[in-house]
Amino acid sequence: MENREITEGEFLDNIDCSLMPIQQFFTYYKCAIMEIETKFRVLNQQFSLNGESNPIEFIQSRIKSYGSIMRKVVTKDLPRNISAIEDNITDIAGVRVICSFVQDIYRLADCFLSQDDIQLIEKKDYISSPKSNGYRSLHLIVTVPIFLENEKRLVKVEVQLRTIAMDFWASLEHKLRYKKDLPQETLDMLTYDLKTCADESAAWDMRMQQIRNIIDAKTNPPPCSLQ
Ligand code: GTP
Ligand code: MG
Repeated sequence: MENREITEGEFLDNIDCSLMPIQQFFTYYKCAIMEIETKFRVLNQQFSLNGESNPIEFIQSRIKSYGSIMRKVVTKDLPRNISAIEDNITDIAGVRVICSFVQDIYRLADCFLSQDDIQLIEKKDYISSPKSNGYRSLHLIVTVPIFLENEKRLVKVEVQLRTIAMDFWASLEHKLRYKKDLPQETLDMLTYDLKTCADESAAWDMRMQQIRNIIDAKTNPPPCSLQ
């Protein structure tokens, strides 16, 4: 057999070929994120048509990096293949929906989950049952269909719904998790402080919800009657 060095063009083609399944894998998750974001944007618009203010403040989405996926494959001791990853890692696509008020979170989640193409895989209500560190959010693992040229695929997405206050708290607490260089005493003190902040801000969320309910009850016009 001819023994020759491959050309630069062949080398680049080989790379393209090996990367293709990975690019395709990530594209499915990007499409799923687009679908989920659109669903929440539509609900936001519809709520405002009903004469209510928009319940969603903002939406953030992210795809887990290749490195983080691989770290999870190792920690969960999963088989090294794409279908095991798709089946077992449920947060490759993540959509975070931030609202002002707690009641809006539950209303949005109910509307979203009642859509017939959304299938709920798992629900974790860390608002009604916060984590011991004070973390609060509503987590939904769902599948959403994406429609490709010749197939329909069901893709898993992790949706996190939280208030602005819960989101503010979670970002600060996330920073603390990666501060391994602080003395243990300081870490313990900050953990305690964060728990207090979480409980206080949850109380604020509740009070502001009550204030809004009173305002809405006083200011909502009676339903329009057709002449
Ligand atoms: P993971 O393996 O990390 O995905 O955990 P899990 O499968 O037990 O899922 P869980 O629903 O508890 O958490 C998933 C995601 O929620 C995390 O990746 C974070 O984005 C967020 N989260 C959960 N707990 C905390 C927390 O205590 N602090 C912060 N800042 N975020 C959290
Ligand atoms: Mg996760």
